[in-house]
Amino acid sequence: MNVRIALTGFGNVGQGLATLLRDRNELYERRYGVRFTLTGVRDRSGAVTDPHGLDFAALLHAKSEQGTVAAGANDMERDVPTFLEASQAQILVEAASTNYVDAEPGWSYVLGAIDRGMDVVVASKGSLALHWNELMGAAKAAGRHVLYSATVGSPVPSLQLAERVLVGADILGFEGILNATSHQILTAMSQGASYAEGVRQAQEMGMAETDPTLDVDGWDAAAKVLIVANAVFGSSLRLDDVRRQGIRGVGAQELERAREANEVIKLIGRARLVDGKVVASVAPEQRSLDDPLGRLRGDAMGIVFDTEPLGRMAATDEPAGGYGGGVTTAMTVIRDLINLARDRGWTRPPTA
Ligand code: HSE
Repeated sequence: MNVRIALTGFGNVGQGLATLLRDRNELYERRYGVRFTLTGVRDRSGAVTDPHGLDFAALLHAKSEQGTVAAGANDMERDVPTFLEASQAQILVEAASTNYVDAEPGWSYVLGAIDRGMDVVVASKGSLALHWNELMGAAKAAGRHVLYSATVGSPVPSLQLAERVLVGADILGFEGILNATSHQILTAMSQGASYAEGVRQAQEMGMAETDPTLDVDGWDAAAKVLIVANAVFGSSLRLDDVRRQGIRGVGAQELERAREANEVIKLIGRARLVDGKVVASVAPEQRSLDDPLGRLRGDAMGIVFDTEPLGRMAATDEPAGGYGGGVTTAMTVIRDLINLARDRGWTRPPTA
């Protein structure tokens, strides 16, 4: 079955998604009987739509040559209902760069899509971090699916581990390295690089937010803690509920002291049930190299759930590089798209 997607945001993640679909759609069709078509793409400068499907290579070419997908004849205004209507899409993928002030432009598209009866795959954290209750309430009332595994440190399967694997156990809390940029910067600094060099490396690796202060000041990690906590504990945390300390205060002396103790400093996000309430924070911590988070290399992320009666359960990644940071997140968007298509009965069972 052909599944039509409207995409907001054509930065690292959006372009990664177009690249992966260009290269892997045949495979998904063979394996799952589903093919994903981009029928609308909106970037900062405008939008293009075609309900029969836009050409992936042409979109990527337009972006790289002209800086926008909308330089051609089919340029449209940013009006949300007009864009969604013109796309005729079943699913919105929201991957525009995020902010924690009003979560726009993504939030209007997410709400507009649910209003239109579309399912939503969210890759940008703003809508979830600022509007969790409203978003989940609207989706539930409309019978729509909202998937967001790309928002929480993809491709580490944090939500799937909690919701599918640990489903019969009690989750008491979790801790994780949930922001790759600050992890890369701290790792580079512990090897002698300056803070500025660390930031540049993370930007070159394609993992930093458009505004890296969101990474280094802990906003990105705090948003991820909030999302995992609300998903796992059924809480309604807001961003202000996550105590937040970033990595700017971590100096050479502190890193040196850790090294002398054969330990490392990592930015750890955590949430825990305390007397039935969720207590959440993000802060730099010194960790042993034996620790499942302490031993992670600079570009990796990971999460450890503390459970009864299973004990600690970890999921970590070691990114393969290659396509760059955006494609790693885009691969997680594809995970959500295929699972959504399965839930909707749009795939066929695997054949031998
Ligand atoms: N900027 C984020 C990070 C990537 O460094 O982890 C997207 O969540």
